Amino acid sequence: MDDATRQQLILAAQEARARAYATYSDFTVGAALLTAEGRFVRGCNVENRSLGLTQCAERVAVGNAVVEGYRDFQALAIASRTGVTPCGACRQVLAEFCADLPILLVQEEPVPETREVSLRLLLPDRFGTDGP
Ligand code: THU
Repeated sequence: MDDATRQQLILAAQEARARAYATYSDFTVGAALLTAEGRFVRGCNVENRSLGLTQCAERVAVGNAVVEGYRDFQALAIASRTGVTPCGACRQVLAEFCADLPILLVQEEPVPETREVSLRLLLPDRFGTDGP
């Protein structure tokens, strides 16, 4: 991923975050997947008054990508106030489509900063039916 694409991916996650529906937690999250074809597919968290029905930004992005015909991904950016890592459930959902994936964690506070991790680092020894 070149520098310009990285910046576009970060911007896409930040734009998605601006659309988050986080009325209960007030913690907005935006995600953007870069597909193998070079497209950006976004997701944001969508909360619900029945709190357990809340959807995370990352899983919304994966669903949006799949329905648009994209299943191969080059990278993911996640934008939030504090630069959180994806939750365990989202890690497993991402692992359905890629053994590894660079993940940019975009934070706003205390200073705007982006940290890079990987899916393999966040979810070692993932569940799979092909055995250990
Ligand atoms: N959230 C995400 O969107 N992605 C994550 O990986 C962690 C949590 C959302 C869910 C909820 O709307 C809010 O952040 C606070 O937990």
